[in-house]
Amino acid sequence: MEEITALCKRRGFIFQSSELYGGVNGAWDYGPVGVELKRNVREAWWRDIVELRDDVVGLDSAILMAPAVWRASGHVENFHDQMVDCKTCKKRWRADHLTSDQCPACGNKTLTEPRAFNMMFKTSIGAMEDASSEAYLRPETAQGIFVDFKLAYQTARKKPPFGIAQIGKAFRNEITPGNFIFRSREFEQMELEYFVPTEPEAETMRWYDYWVNERFDWWMRLGVQHERLRKTAYAGKDLAHYSKATTDLEYDFPFGWGELEGIAHRGTFDLTQHVAASGKDLAFFDEESKEKYLPTVIEPSLGVDRALLVFLLDAFEREADRTVLHLHPRLAPYKAAVFPLVRNKPDIVELARTIEKSLRPSMRTTFDDSGNVGKRYYRQDEIGTPLCVTVDYDSLEQHDVTVRDRDTKAQVRVAVDSLGSYLRDRLADWSR
Ligand code: GAP
Repeated sequence: MEEITALCKRRGFIFQSSELYGGVNGAWDYGPVGVELKRNVREAWWRDIVELRDDVVGLDSAILMAPAVWRASGHVENFHDQMVDCKTCKKRWRADHLTSDQCPACGNKTLTEPRAFNMMFKTSIGAMEDASSEAYLRPETAQGIFVDFKLAYQTARKKPPFGIAQIGKAFRNEITPGNFIFRSREFEQMELEYFVPTEPEAETMRWYDYWVNERFDWWMRLGVQHERLRKTAYAGKDLAHYSKATTDLEYDFPFGWGELEGIAHRGTFDLTQHVAASGKDLAFFDEESKEKYLPTVIEPSLGVDRALLVFLLDAFEREADRTVLHLHPRLAPYKAAVFPLVRNKPDIVELARTIEKSLRPSMRTTFDDSGNVGKRYYRQDEIGTPLCVTVDYDSLEQHDVTVRDRDTKAQVRVAVDSLGSYLRDRLADWSR
């Protein structure tokens, strides 16, 4: 984890928020390379969940919502961590993280009884700061989907089974943010609420299994190593207050197995709560069967940042002479880097610049002319660029270039005229 953290800072993936002022715990900034990776993570999810399906539509709901939403959803009452304080050193701990009655910092047995601590950030709307202006920063994007459920299905003319997907920021006042971007206070979620007919129940379980398998396969398709992923099913008292069944997809992080994504069977809990609290009818009316019912929800939910961490950790490899990120090309910040062999030969530099510019409309590229070619390969390997293109003296005569493969280091000569289609084919091949 230290190696990844250092690489992320060195190469412009991730910085600590407000580092200039000593940093903010649990908040992170994505640098010039990191922002590309993050966009690609979102893009991969959105493409596979929304664009390539005809049964899912998108939504972008506001972070600020009516406080009544969080009372109805159970977050005001239930979204707590149990905390204990040390009376000696004043440190605060999550009760479920302690293994004895001793304070892990000072060793004294002066811990208080556990107390509930709500993880929602409070804010106020408008000029007055009183109880009537109180609001919360959303701790999950899901509730925006439930609250807009009727507007979305009516305008999109969808009927169960269908889903509503959303990507957006969420905020949780985590007591122990940590393990780099694994647990933050400000993070981003990608959530799908998939609405299915509530009867027969067996069919809802079939949809639940379908999404568990579909989501597991998604990680495989993006290159995550099979042996580092597993499914853990929860039952009984281990389930969240809203859930009838939950499976976590877990990853073998450097600090142990940890949750990466949760797939929850939420039953009709959320819609029932919002009907009761708002007094509005959210039931779905099926024109064909003339049946009216609240659909059951299957929810695959994951964090963009946590997914990004998994992709980084999984792709990371230290070889004898280099560090390389074997990122899937769909995720790689740059698909191709273009270098002039030397920077003091204007014809070579100009051809390299022309080539890089001509590739831009069809793939994310970067240009690098600093240091020698070996150093440039090293830099691109560290940020996971699948293909590097070098323009040299021969390129001026023969109008061809060297293309070097990140994973095998193999090099081939390719004619400049067919370079674009060659690179696109190579990247597409990788994806299969
Ligand atoms: N709507 C259901 C829900 O929010 P969750 O298990 O609390 O469920 C879903 O969160 C996913 O969001 C997690 O699997 C994880 O990937 C991500 N996540 C949750 N809390 C996070 C945090 N503090 N920092 C980063 N990611 C987080």
